[in-house]
This record gives sequence, structure tokens and C-alpha cells, in this order.
Amino acid sequence: MAQSSDSATSDVENGPSGESVVTATGEKIVLEDVRKTFANGSIVAAEEINLNISPDEFVVLLGPSGCGKTTTLRCISGLETPDSGTITIGDRDVTTTKPKDRDLAFVFQSIALFPHMTVRGNMRFGLDMNTDLDADEKKRRVEEAAQTLGIEEMLDRKPAALSGGQQQRVSIGRAMVMEPSAFLLDEPFSALDANLRDQMQTEVKKLHRQIGCAMIFVTHDQDEAMTIGDKIVVMDDGRIQQVGSPHEIYNEPDTQFVAQFIGSPSTNIFESTVTKQDDEIVLENELFTKTVSADVADKLEAYVGREVAIGIRPEYLQLDETGLFDADITLIEPQGSNDVVHLDSGTRTMRTTVTQGDVTADQSVGVSFDLEDAWLFNEDGDRIV
Ligand SMILES: Nc1ncnc2c1ncn2[C@@H]1O[C@H](COP(=O)(O)OP(=O)(O)O)[C@@H](O)[C@H]1O
Ligand SMILES: [Mg+2]
Repeated sequence: MAQSSDSATSDVENGPSGESVVTATGEKIVLEDVRKTFANGSIVAAEEINLNISPDEFVVLLGPSGCGKTTTLRCISGLETPDSGTITIGDRDVTTTKPKDRDLAFVFQSIALFPHMTVRGNMRFGLDMNTDLDADEKKRRVEEAAQTLGIEEMLDRKPAALSGGQQQRVSIGRAMVMEPSAFLLDEPFSALDANLRDQMQTEVKKLHRQIGCAMIFVTHDQDEAMTIGDKIVVMDDGRIQQVGSPHEIYNEPDTQFVAQFIGSPSTNIFESTVTKQDDEIVLENELFTKTVSADVADKLEAYVGREVAIGIRPEYLQLDETGLFDADITLIEPQGSNDVVHLDSGTRTMRTTVTQGDVTADQSVGVSFDLEDAWLFNEDGDRIV
């Protein structure tokens, strides 16, 4: 760990035979109402960021490019200072603390290894700069991290002799030897090819289990987020949309944005008008009219005369003879054991998934779905049902 005297994360104790025993434990990280703007306040990069990260959690910040993920991570690391709000690590308020005094390690997408130094030298660099550990302890940490990452054979090579994946392992190793209280990773695998990315995702997850301290991982890739995150923080336009487990955000999205951003193919949306016909509440658009159940009607009473969006996942859109409406199959995209079927009703396009080979292109089909499988969102994109 860094040798900052106020580090509450790690205790150097004297072991039974007087040797130094390092016990590094994670700490909780709390963000309260963090707001960060740029360009004299004209760009709001992050606002109302409230997050509670427990000491052993794997948290993923997920959202489209420009939504404020990196800014949030840089505020946690100390590379940016929030305009307002507080950040605490353990019980220390670190809102304005320098990065080096936060006991956190950063891994970036661009792998900035020193080309003239060996892997060993690169991994030891932070220890040399920021700690006064003795040579044996530095050697032990470097070798232990190298072994965990499977790069022990490469310690005496220069970075140029390593593959991209091996280089990214070195940069993770460089973070590990600092024994930080949390790891911050900003799109660390985006530059790697698909197979290697899969492999690194599995490895970083295993690493998390082994090390047991918090990891905060930024990605714009929902598949990556779903694969590795225990907790996913979905962001859009500088704000947190939802925090939940991968299953929660897939099955119970709080907002239309989350429903559409998570899952591939994306959730189909049918904008519809809420009307009252006789004593029933009906959802109506140019394709279909659907009467809602009694409990849904209670929730929609306040929306009569207004627009809502029906969200339905592709897997719940059924193709059958007596559909709710007709559509043409315009394209079939093989996707492993399923086919993604593109549909065009004349006024809208939508997608569904079927078992491989179930339907063929260039035919008209009936399309239907059950309202019980759908979500309803109001004009602000917030979930009603
Ligand atoms: N140093 C900066 N100066 C001005 N604008 C910035 C700066 N850093 C980020 N931004 C802006 O803040 C918003 C959020 O950026 P960022 O946090 O990098 O998003 P993400 O990592 O999700 O892609 C974007 O609109 C971006 O252009
Ligand atoms: Mg970014």
C-alpha cells in the first residue's frame, strides 16, 4: 500500500517472527451529491451522483460515450475535484485529497508502460516512487502479482516483446503491487480484440475474488458490464439512471433509457395514447388497441389523454397467424442458437428473436405480445408499470 501515514486501509504489523506482515483490506467508498462541470459550468459532466460502494464490491459504471463515467471515476481518484458534493473512503473525507494520498490504483485503456524498462521495472515503478518499502518486499510483491496474472516468465522482457493482453496484465500488475484499497479501471479492455477481451474479463473477475477489494470498472459495453459486474450503475447524460445487479437492470428497468440500453437486440418501444373507453383503460396507437388489466388501469388513470411508451423485449414479441397487427420480415440475423428477426409494420420497425431457422425473410407475419410482459414508461421515461 502507499506509505501515506493517514492510510487507514492497511496495517503493517509485526508477525510472529518479527517480519513485516501486510494486511490490505478494502474500504467503502461513498459519493454524495457529486457534481462536476467543465467550461465554466456550461458542460455538466456529472450531477447528483450518489453511490455507495462496499469494500469488496465489483461495480461497473455503464453508459454511452460522454455520459460522465470517466469524470465520475476521475473524481473518485482525485484527478478531478468535484464542484460540489463529497467523496469519502472509509471514514476519510477525500473530496479534495491528492490522488497519491487516496490509496487507489488506476488502470487506463491506453497502456502506458515505459518501453525502456523491463516488465519487472514497470511493475516496481510505483513502489519505487511512492513507498519506502525494502527491496525484498518490492520483489515479493512484483513476483506475487506476476504469478497471479500469469506473466512471471516475462518479468525480464521489455514491453515491446509482449502481446496487447500481456501488456494490459502488466498495467494491472503495476496497480496490484501498490495493494490499494480499491482499483479504478477505465475501459481497460476496449482496445483488445474480442477473444482476448473475453479472457481478460474472466481474469479480472477472478482477480477480484482473489484480492477481495473494491473494483470500479468503467465501460460503454453492456455485454462487458453484464459479464463482470456484481453491481451495475447505468448512467446517461451525467446522471445515474439505475443501480442494480445485472438481473435487476435487465428484468426491472427503472427508466426507458435503461430498458433500451440494456439487452441486445434492444427493447421495442410502442408509443401509445392512454384513453378511457366505457369503464376500461386502453392503450392505443396506429397499429393496435389493448385493454389493460384492472391493477394496471389504477396506475394509468392519471395518464388518460397522455402518451406512454410500451416497452417489450424482443423475446416477448411473438409471431403467429392471428397477430395483434401484421408486419413484414425484412431481415434475419443469425445469432448463435437464435435468429434475430427484423420486422416492419409500415409505420414502425421492431425486432424479435426466434429459434434458429423458425422463419424465413420476405413474408408477412402476425405479431402479438402480452401486456403482462411489457413495461410502461411516462413522457419523462420513468417506469409506471
Ligand atoms: N476536461 C474536460 N473539459 C471539457 N469537457 C470535458 C472534459 N472532460 C470531459 N468533458 C465532457 O464531459 C462529458 C462527460 O465526459 P466523460 O466523463 O469523459 O464521459 P464518458 O467517460 O462517459 O465517455 C462529455 O460531454 C465530455 O465532453
Ligand atoms: Mg470515458
